[in-house]
Amino acid sequence: MKPFDKISEKINTAHHAKLPRKWKKLGDIAVMDFSSIEETYHKEIAQIYAEELNVKTIIQKNKIVGELRKPENVKLLYGNETVTEISEYGIKYKLDLAEIMWSPGNTGWRSALSGPKEVTDFYTFNKHDIIIDYFAGIGYFSIQMARGYPNSKVIAIDKNPNSIKYLKINVEANQIDNIEIINDDCRNIDIKADVIHLGYIGNTIDFLENASNCLKIDGTIIFHEVYRNNWLGFKKRSDWNGVPINFSQLMENNGFKVNKFNRIKFYGPSTSHVVASLSKI
Ligand SMILES: C[S@@+](CC[C@H](N)C(=O)[O-])C[C@H]1O[C@@H](n2cnc3c(N)ncnc32)[C@H](O)[C@@H]1O
Repeated sequence: MKPFDKISEKINTAHHAKLPRKWKKLGDIAVMDFSSIEETYHKEIAQIYAEELNVKTIIQKNKIVGELRKPENVKLLYGNETVTEISEYGIKYKLDLAEIMWSPGNTGWRSALSGPKEVTDFYTFNKHDIIIDYFAGIGYFSIQMARGYPNSKVIAIDKNPNSIKYLKINVEANQIDNIEIINDDCRNIDIKADVIHLGYIGNTIDFLENASNCLKIDGTIIFHEVYRNNWLGFKKRSDWNGVPINFSQLMENNGFKVNKFNRIKFYGPSTSHVVASLSKI
Protein backbone atom coordinates (compact mmCIF):
# COMPACT_ATOMS: atom_id res chain seq x y z
CA MET A 1 0.00 0.00 0.00
CA LYS A 2 1.32 3.45 -0.91
CA PRO A 3 1.86 6.02 1.91
CA PHE A 4 -0.99 8.20 0.62
CA ASP A 5 -3.42 5.28 0.67
CA LYS A 6 -2.43 4.46 4.24
CA ILE A 7 -2.87 8.13 5.22
CA SER A 8 -6.27 8.59 3.54
CA GLU A 9 -7.54 5.37 5.11
CA LYS A 10 -7.18 7.06 8.53
CA ILE A 11 -8.96 10.29 7.50
CA ASN A 12 -12.71 10.94 7.19
CA THR A 13 -13.75 10.51 3.53
CA ALA A 14 -15.29 14.01 3.55
CA HIS A 15 -11.70 15.41 3.33
CA HIS A 16 -10.31 12.98 0.77
CA ALA A 17 -10.59 15.12 -2.36
CA LYS A 18 -8.63 17.91 -0.65
CA LEU A 19 -5.77 15.89 0.81
CA PRO A 20 -2.28 16.59 -0.59
CA ARG A 21 -1.04 13.65 -2.65
CA LYS A 22 2.46 15.07 -3.00
CA TRP A 23 4.94 16.35 -0.45
CA LYS A 24 8.66 17.00 -0.07
CA LYS A 25 10.39 15.16 2.71
CA LEU A 26 13.45 17.14 3.79
CA GLY A 27 15.24 15.13 6.46
CA ASP A 28 12.70 14.60 9.23
CA ILE A 29 10.38 17.44 8.12
CA ALA A 30 7.73 17.27 5.37
CA VAL A 31 6.48 20.25 3.35
CA MET A 32 3.04 20.04 1.72
CA ASP A 33 0.01 22.10 0.69
CA PHE A 34 -2.96 22.09 3.09
CA SER A 35 -4.53 25.22 1.57
CA SER A 36 -7.64 23.34 0.35
CA ILE A 37 -8.33 21.81 3.76
CA GLU A 38 -10.44 23.70 6.33
CA GLU A 39 -8.15 25.17 8.98
CA THR A 40 -9.93 23.53 11.97
CA TYR A 41 -8.83 20.10 10.70
CA HIS A 42 -5.21 21.01 9.92
CA LYS A 43 -3.58 19.72 13.10
CA GLU A 44 -5.54 16.50 13.28
CA ILE A 45 -4.88 15.61 9.62
CA ALA A 46 -1.25 16.79 9.67
CA GLN A 47 -0.60 14.53 12.65
CA ILE A 48 -1.72 11.52 10.59
CA TYR A 49 0.67 12.53 7.78
CA ALA A 50 3.49 13.07 10.30
CA GLU A 51 3.03 9.64 11.83
CA GLU A 52 2.78 7.81 8.52
CA LEU A 53 5.74 9.68 6.96
CA ASN A 54 7.74 9.42 10.17
CA VAL A 55 8.53 13.15 10.41
CA LYS A 56 8.61 15.45 13.44
CA THR A 57 7.12 18.52 11.73
CA ILE A 58 4.81 19.34 8.81
CA ILE A 59 5.26 22.78 7.23
CA GLN A 60 2.73 24.42 4.89
CA LYS A 61 4.24 24.84 1.40
CA ASN A 62 5.24 28.49 1.03
CA LYS A 63 6.78 31.02 -1.28
CA ILE A 64 10.47 31.90 -1.27
CA VAL A 65 10.85 35.67 -1.40
CA GLY A 66 13.33 38.51 -1.58
CA GLU A 67 17.01 38.84 -2.30
CA LEU A 68 17.97 36.49 0.52
CA ARG A 69 15.48 33.84 -0.69
CA LYS A 70 13.71 33.43 2.65
CA PRO A 71 10.54 31.37 3.09
CA GLU A 72 7.51 33.65 3.52
CA ASN A 73 4.89 33.30 6.31
CA VAL A 74 6.09 29.95 7.60
CA LYS A 75 3.15 28.01 9.01
CA LEU A 76 3.65 24.85 11.05
CA LEU A 77 0.79 22.39 10.49
CA TYR A 78 2.15 19.90 12.97
CA GLY A 79 5.11 19.89 15.40
CA ASN A 80 7.27 22.87 16.27
CA GLU A 81 10.85 22.12 15.24
CA THR A 82 12.05 23.59 11.94
CA VAL A 83 15.73 22.58 11.94
CA THR A 84 16.42 19.52 9.81
CA GLU A 85 19.37 17.65 8.34
CA ILE A 86 19.46 16.59 4.69
CA SER A 87 21.99 14.13 3.24
CA GLU A 88 23.02 14.50 -0.38
CA TYR A 89 25.89 12.75 -2.21
CA GLY A 90 27.73 12.01 1.01
CA ILE A 91 27.35 15.47 2.57
CA LYS A 92 25.08 16.35 5.48
CA TYR A 93 23.43 19.77 5.46
CA LYS A 94 21.77 21.17 8.56
CA LEU A 95 19.39 24.10 8.04
CA ASP A 96 16.37 25.85 9.52
CA LEU A 97 13.49 25.54 7.04
CA ALA A 98 11.73 28.48 8.72
CA GLU A 99 14.62 30.74 7.70
CA ILE A 100 16.36 29.21 4.71
CA MET A 101 15.20 27.69 1.42
CA TRP A 102 16.12 24.23 0.11
CA SER A 103 15.39 23.43 -3.50
CA PRO A 104 14.66 19.67 -3.82
CA GLY A 105 14.57 19.89 -7.64
CA ASN A 106 18.28 20.78 -7.89
CA THR A 107 19.50 17.59 -6.21
CA GLY A 108 21.83 16.11 -8.86
CA TRP A 109 23.19 19.52 -9.80
CA ARG A 110 24.53 20.24 -6.33
CA SER A 111 26.81 17.19 -6.48
CA ALA A 112 29.79 18.86 -8.27
CA LEU A 113 32.30 16.00 -8.67
CA SER A 114 30.34 13.37 -6.70
CA GLY A 115 27.29 12.86 -8.90
CA PRO A 116 26.03 12.13 -12.43
CA LYS A 117 28.45 12.42 -15.37
CA GLU A 118 26.74 15.47 -16.93
CA VAL A 119 27.25 17.35 -13.65
CA THR A 120 30.82 16.13 -13.14
CA ASP A 121 31.63 17.29 -16.70
CA PHE A 122 30.31 20.73 -15.86
CA TYR A 123 32.16 21.01 -12.58
CA THR A 124 35.53 19.73 -13.88
CA PHE A 125 37.76 22.80 -14.05
CA ASN A 126 41.23 22.88 -15.65
CA LYS A 127 42.35 25.59 -13.25
CA HIS A 128 40.84 25.63 -9.80
CA ASP A 129 43.31 26.92 -7.18
CA ILE A 130 40.83 29.55 -5.96
CA ILE A 131 37.08 28.90 -6.31
CA ILE A 132 34.62 31.57 -5.15
CA ASP A 133 31.00 30.66 -4.47
CA TYR A 134 29.08 33.98 -4.61
CA PHE A 135 25.79 32.70 -3.11
CA ALA A 136 26.97 29.94 -0.83
CA GLY A 137 23.85 29.67 1.37
CA ILE A 138 24.36 26.79 3.80
CA GLY A 139 27.03 25.27 1.54
CA TYR A 140 24.94 23.53 -1.19
CA PHE A 141 27.76 23.85 -3.76
CA SER A 142 30.74 25.12 -1.73
CA ILE A 143 31.09 21.98 0.35
CA GLN A 144 30.91 19.62 -2.63
CA MET A 145 33.40 21.73 -4.60
CA ALA A 146 35.76 21.84 -1.59
CA ARG A 147 35.53 18.07 -1.25
CA GLY A 148 36.03 17.54 -4.99
CA TYR A 149 39.07 19.85 -5.05
CA PRO A 150 40.83 19.18 -1.74
CA ASN A 151 43.95 21.13 -2.76
CA SER A 152 41.98 24.22 -3.79
CA LYS A 153 40.70 27.02 -1.60
CA VAL A 154 36.96 27.63 -1.77
CA ILE A 155 35.77 31.06 -0.67
CA ALA A 156 32.10 30.80 0.31
CA ILE A 157 30.22 34.11 0.46
CA ASP A 158 26.70 34.81 1.62
CA LYS A 159 24.90 37.98 2.67
CA ASN A 160 22.47 36.26 5.05
CA PRO A 161 23.94 35.79 8.58
CA ASN A 162 21.50 32.94 9.16
CA SER A 163 22.82 31.00 6.16
CA ILE A 164 26.37 31.71 7.35
CA LYS A 165 25.51 30.25 10.76
CA TYR A 166 24.51 26.91 9.15
CA LEU A 167 27.31 27.10 6.58
CA LYS A 168 29.83 27.14 9.46
CA ILE A 169 28.07 24.23 11.17
CA ASN A 170 27.99 22.20 7.93
CA VAL A 171 31.63 22.86 7.01
CA GLU A 172 32.69 21.64 10.44
CA ALA A 173 30.32 18.66 10.58
CA ASN A 174 31.54 17.42 7.18
CA GLN A 175 35.18 17.93 8.24
CA ILE A 176 36.01 20.26 5.37
CA ASP A 177 39.13 22.34 5.94
CA ASN A 178 39.59 24.20 2.64
CA ILE A 179 36.66 26.64 2.84
CA GLU A 180 36.95 30.28 3.92
CA ILE A 181 33.60 31.80 4.86
CA ILE A 182 32.71 35.48 4.30
CA ASN A 183 29.44 37.06 5.43
CA ASP A 184 29.04 39.94 2.94
CA ASP A 185 27.47 41.03 -0.32
CA CYS A 186 29.39 39.22 -3.07
CA ARG A 187 29.74 42.51 -4.95
CA ASN A 188 32.06 43.76 -2.19
CA ILE A 189 34.52 40.95 -2.85
CA ASP A 190 37.74 41.77 -4.63
CA ILE A 191 39.69 38.51 -4.79
CA LYS A 192 41.10 36.99 -7.99
CA ALA A 193 39.73 33.52 -8.69
CA ASP A 194 40.05 30.67 -11.19
CA VAL A 195 36.39 29.73 -10.82
CA ILE A 196 33.40 31.87 -9.77
CA HIS A 197 30.18 30.06 -9.06
CA LEU A 198 26.92 32.00 -9.47
CA GLY A 199 24.35 29.60 -8.01
CA TYR A 200 21.49 32.09 -7.98
CA ILE A 201 18.38 32.67 -10.05
CA GLY A 202 16.34 35.79 -10.81
CA ASN A 203 18.91 38.45 -11.69
CA THR A 204 22.20 36.55 -11.92
CA ILE A 205 23.31 38.77 -14.81
CA ASP A 206 23.54 41.71 -12.36
CA PHE A 207 26.46 39.97 -10.64
CA LEU A 208 28.38 39.11 -13.81
CA GLU A 209 30.31 42.37 -14.04
CA ASN A 210 31.74 41.98 -10.56
CA ALA A 211 32.49 38.32 -11.24
CA SER A 212 34.24 39.30 -14.46
CA ASN A 213 36.44 41.78 -12.57
CA CYS A 214 37.42 39.07 -10.07
CA LEU A 215 37.94 36.29 -12.62
CA LYS A 216 41.47 35.46 -13.78
CA ILE A 217 41.93 35.77 -17.54
CA ASP A 218 41.62 32.01 -18.16
CA GLY A 219 39.05 31.40 -15.43
CA THR A 220 35.58 29.80 -15.53
CA ILE A 221 32.20 31.11 -14.44
CA ILE A 222 29.35 28.74 -13.64
CA PHE A 223 26.18 30.72 -14.29
CA HIS A 224 22.73 29.59 -13.13
CA GLU A 225 19.53 31.40 -14.21
CA VAL A 226 15.88 30.95 -15.14
CA TYR A 227 14.64 31.95 -18.62
CA ARG A 228 11.43 31.63 -20.57
CA ASN A 229 11.45 28.58 -22.86
CA ASN A 230 10.29 30.83 -25.73
CA TRP A 231 13.27 33.11 -25.35
CA LEU A 232 15.59 30.11 -25.20
CA GLY A 233 13.92 28.77 -28.34
CA PHE A 234 12.84 25.53 -26.70
CA LYS A 235 9.68 24.05 -28.13
CA LYS A 236 10.43 20.35 -28.21
CA ARG A 237 12.84 18.01 -26.45
CA SER A 238 15.32 17.87 -29.34
CA ASP A 239 15.74 21.68 -29.09
CA TRP A 240 17.68 21.09 -25.88
CA ASN A 241 20.88 20.21 -27.71
CA GLY A 242 23.31 23.06 -28.23
CA VAL A 243 23.44 26.60 -26.87
CA PRO A 244 20.43 28.90 -27.49
CA ILE A 245 21.35 31.81 -29.77
CA ASN A 246 19.78 34.46 -27.53
CA PHE A 247 21.73 33.21 -24.55
CA SER A 248 25.05 33.12 -26.48
CA GLN A 249 24.40 36.67 -27.67
CA LEU A 250 23.57 37.92 -24.18
CA MET A 251 26.76 36.42 -22.78
CA GLU A 252 28.83 37.76 -25.68
CA ASN A 253 27.46 41.25 -24.97
CA ASN A 254 28.75 40.81 -21.43
CA GLY A 255 32.21 39.67 -22.58
CA PHE A 256 31.77 35.90 -22.24
CA LYS A 257 31.81 32.83 -24.43
CA VAL A 258 29.48 29.93 -23.56
CA ASN A 259 31.44 26.67 -23.41
CA LYS A 260 28.76 24.40 -21.95
CA PHE A 261 25.04 24.73 -21.49
CA ASN A 262 22.47 22.48 -19.84
CA ARG A 263 18.96 22.51 -18.46
CA ILE A 264 18.58 21.74 -14.76
CA LYS A 265 14.78 21.54 -14.61
CA PHE A 266 11.55 23.05 -15.81
CA TYR A 267 10.66 25.91 -13.52
CA GLY A 268 6.94 26.47 -13.76
CA PRO A 269 5.03 25.77 -16.99
CA SER A 270 6.96 27.99 -19.41
CA THR A 271 10.38 28.62 -17.90
CA SER A 272 13.55 26.62 -17.32
CA HIS A 273 16.39 26.72 -14.84
CA VAL A 274 19.59 26.49 -16.89
CA VAL A 275 23.31 26.40 -16.17
CA ALA A 276 26.21 27.52 -18.32
CA SER A 277 29.97 27.38 -18.16
CA LEU A 278 31.52 30.65 -19.36
CA SER A 279 34.99 31.95 -20.16
CA LYS A 280 36.17 35.46 -21.00
CA ILE A 281 36.26 36.36 -24.69
C1 LIG B 1 18.80 30.41 -2.33
S1 LIG B 1 20.46 30.31 -2.23
C2 LIG B 1 20.86 29.37 -3.58
C3 LIG B 1 20.10 28.09 -3.65
C4 LIG B 1 20.88 26.94 -4.12
N1 LIG B 1 21.49 27.26 -5.37
C5 LIG B 1 20.11 25.62 -4.21
O1 LIG B 1 20.48 24.80 -5.04
O2 LIG B 1 19.21 25.35 -3.43
C6 LIG B 1 20.86 31.92 -2.61
C7 LIG B 1 21.70 32.56 -1.52
O3 LIG B 1 22.22 33.78 -2.03
C8 LIG B 1 22.36 34.70 -0.96
N2 LIG B 1 22.48 36.06 -1.54
C9 LIG B 1 21.53 36.78 -2.17
N3 LIG B 1 22.04 37.97 -2.60
C10 LIG B 1 23.36 37.96 -2.25
C11 LIG B 1 24.42 38.89 -2.45
N4 LIG B 1 24.23 40.04 -3.08
N5 LIG B 1 25.64 38.56 -1.98
C12 LIG B 1 25.84 37.38 -1.33
N6 LIG B 1 24.87 36.48 -1.11
C13 LIG B 1 23.65 36.75 -1.57
C14 LIG B 1 21.12 34.46 -0.13
O4 LIG B 1 21.32 34.88 1.20
C15 LIG B 1 20.95 32.91 -0.25
O5 LIG B 1 21.56 32.26 0.84
